[in-house]
Amino acid sequence: MRVEEIRELFPGLGQTVYGRPLVYFDNAATAMRPVSVLEKWRELSSFHNSNIHRAVHKLAADATQEYEKTRDFVKEYINAGGREEVIFTSGTTAAINLVAFCFGEAFVNQGDEIIVSEEEHHSNIVPWQMMCSRKGAVLKVLPVTDDGHLDISALGGLLTPRTKLLAVTQISNTLGIKNPIKEIVNICHSNNCYVLADGAQGIVHEGMDVRADDVDFYVFSGHKIYGRPERGCCTARRNFSTGCLPIWAEAR
Ligand SMILES: Cc1ncc(COP(=O)(O)O)c(C=O)c1O
Repeated sequence: MRVEEIRELFPGLGQTVYGRPLVYFDNAATAMRPVSVLEKWRELSSFHNSNIHRAVHKLAADATQEYEKTRDFVKEYINAGGREEVIFTSGTTAAINLVAFCFGEAFVNQGDEIIVSEEEHHSNIVPWQMMCSRKGAVLKVLPVTDDGHLDISALGGLLTPRTKLLAVTQISNTLGIKNPIKEIVNICHSNNCYVLADGAQGIVHEGMDVRADDVDFYVFSGHKIYGRPERGCCTARRNFSTGCLPIWAEAR
């Protein structure tokens, strides 16, 4: 592909900044939107603007149908087992907060443990810190070796019968290192510990097959893969519905 052809797909790149053509390097934070996304967005806002799942008139039916089509698309994109596993949020941070709150309220008790790795984004640390302080749980940290990789050999020593969940990034936003999610999941599951994978960077560079990697929760940002600003996603693969009802109530 020619770089010029790609640039033309992104109207934002047509502008000059400080007298030069814009070079945008902040895709890891949020991506520029291509014409196809902007046009769809304009069409939806102009002609199908309505509350989804609430009104019965034509515009609302159209809006609901478009919204639910996206859920089917996301299901296929990450190979989720069912469309009900796909929950829309405003981004990765909101998705992690949703899981930390719902899972924490329902399943975490005083003295239980949560593990995060040393290389997590703030978004995958603070919600767990807050949940642990609310519930009287203990937050443990999986260390990183001097060459920047997760010290998987330390995981066995951290897991105990009180460990409820491990939250780890699929690809580090600071080091760019890919973590062995499947290996981590296998170790955690054999110790009855659930796993949340933060796919904010991973979804962009290697995608995710949630069934193959068997993660319990997978969270990512739609706005980092050219989607609308303030759009993200969370998948909950286990049936937590009885103890964890709010997780199914989408943050719209
Ligand atoms: C690894 C990681 N997790 C979480 C986030 C937060 O994502 P969002 O802006 O969608 O809340 C980011 C954003 O840069 C990230 O890189």
